[in-house]
Amino acid sequence: MRAKIVAGNWKMNNDLEESKSLVKKVAKSIKKKSLNNTRVIVAPTFVSLDKVSKIAKETKVEVAAQNMHFEKNGAFTGEVSAEMLKSVGVKIVILGHSERREYFGETDALLAKKVDTALANKMEVIFCFGEVLEDRKSGKHFDVVESQIKNALFHLEAKAWKNIILAYEPVWAIGTGETASPEQAQEMHAFIRKIVAEKYTSEVAEDVSILYGGSVKPANAEEIFSKPDVDGGLIGGAALNKDDFKAIIDAI
Ligand code: PGA
Repeated sequence: MRAKIVAGNWKMNNDLEESKSLVKKVAKSIKKKSLNNTRVIVAPTFVSLDKVSKIAKETKVEVAAQNMHFEKNGAFTGEVSAEMLKSVGVKIVILGHSERREYFGETDALLAKKVDTALANKMEVIFCFGEVLEDRKSGKHFDVVESQIKNALFHLEAKAWKNIILAYEPVWAIGTGETASPEQAQEMHAFIRKIVAEKYTSEVAEDVSILYGGSVKPANAEEIFSKPDVDGGLIGGAALNKDDFKAIIDAI
């Protein structure tokens, strides 16, 4: 059965001390919970990964990186490799976030390489994608999402999909306070599961967790998560506040 997941993307927030403090608070807030099939993940910045992952190791919280390079090492100033992430105990990486695509020029072709590298290193990938407002207004959102998934993931073998988590994040809903309605999220998630089933098998499609991201808050989490194809959320702003993040975990 596919896992339910609540993942906090801290983006470029929290210095080392703040990160250590927040992961401890998150861990404490779920310590007594029986999580069953639910995973709780936090993604701090690179500088905090080592310490945060050491703290998280003794808890129910898992740790992800927000990005990585596809090469193992070399002259790539400012970049971090899969091997380096693994050396600090990190085995999950967020790839393809819309902010990486928009501000750092990441393309589907580049992301396909990053996905391959992560999987070759036995890491799990939280793969983000989603349409911009114009795409939705002009009714192209399904085509855009399909091509993002196809270009970066459909070269994979079926068995690789056990290490893929999908995160549908309509760009117009990220950090804007505007959320896709639960119906819009469900409609897109069902579509994604359908195209994965068509390309692979219904088992692959049924097993992949599909998270929704974009202004998920305590006030709307429960309704969004109640949809059958929404398996959790990738949370930005609300993941920076321990009470809000806990409320979102409670909602799932
Ligand atoms: P948000 O960010 O929750 O602040 O909208 C979501 C994300 O970018 O993953």
